[in-house]
Amino acid sequence: MLKTVFANHEFENPFLNASGVHCMTTEELDELDHSSSGALITKSCTPLPRLGNPEPRYINLPTGSINSMGLPNKGFDYYLEYVTNTPYTKPCFFSISGMNTDENLDMLRRLAASSFNGITELNLSCPNVTGKTQLAYDFEQTERLLNQVFDSYQKPLGVKLPPYFDFAHFDEMAKILNQFPLTYVNAINSVGNGLVIDLDSEKVVIKPKDGFGGLGGPMIKATALANVRAFATRLKDDIQIIGTGGIATGQDAFEHLLCGATLLQVGTQLHKEGPAIFDRLTRELEAIMKQKGYATIDEFRGKVKSFS
Ligand code: SIN
Repeated sequence: MLKTVFANHEFENPFLNASGVHCMTTEELDELDHSSSGALITKSCTPLPRLGNPEPRYINLPTGSINSMGLPNKGFDYYLEYVTNTPYTKPCFFSISGMNTDENLDMLRRLAASSFNGITELNLSCPNVTGKTQLAYDFEQTERLLNQVFDSYQKPLGVKLPPYFDFAHFDEMAKILNQFPLTYVNAINSVGNGLVIDLDSEKVVIKPKDGFGGLGGPMIKATALANVRAFATRLKDDIQIIGTGGIATGQDAFEHLLCGATLLQVGTQLHKEGPAIFDRLTRELEAIMKQKGYATIDEFRGKVKSFS
């Protein structure tokens, strides 16, 4: 019932982790492989390992989460070794987030030369590295980078975007993305640079960047749905969409699919519940589909109704 075709791969269901959650180590990746998720993605990596920002750097909140991890990861080689030498059983995404163009192009060259036959996610939207802006908020630089990427990289590749909040920005970014043979667009990364304060101590709750960090979970679902819908209605048909942001229940998943997503990444709620969450999400989504009389996701994907 939940079977999904994405980038010519068949997925048992549309769910996977959001990069950054439960995917730093090979043990965590193995746990995802053994879970009911339809796929898995590695932690966004840099050419060399990074420790990331000082702790506390991730806090769960009643309405979601705030984090400023700062791209801690075990380095490109660690994840390449995993994706090329582990007999994992489901489609695998490889996430990269270089500190500059050269680092991204270098990692892509090495992925191109490797036996990796999964899908690459180029993260253009990490809000948590001090002194670095989120690349996808700079339209000219994004276009320049994608030109350089597609000059040489020919394996399937998608981009992870930050949220946009204005129709002019949806239009402008979609115009850029439509020029390239992208496999997919992932909307959205965390809502960058929120600030959460503890009433008792009158203090921010995370240490890096004076408390500023990316927001996730239920509090960002409406923004995520808007971005999924905005890109679904603007991108050419062969660019698929991954919906990320605020997926904690089968209903949230159904809404993302209705807005046009094909795959669904789960971050904050996976962090809270662990990989067993995928049992619950698949069960809840199937129950909603049965109740509404849908036998496949294709019957309702992208068909959210508007007034008039
Ligand atoms: C982080 O490591 O800071 C999170 C990565 C991201 O938001 O892209």
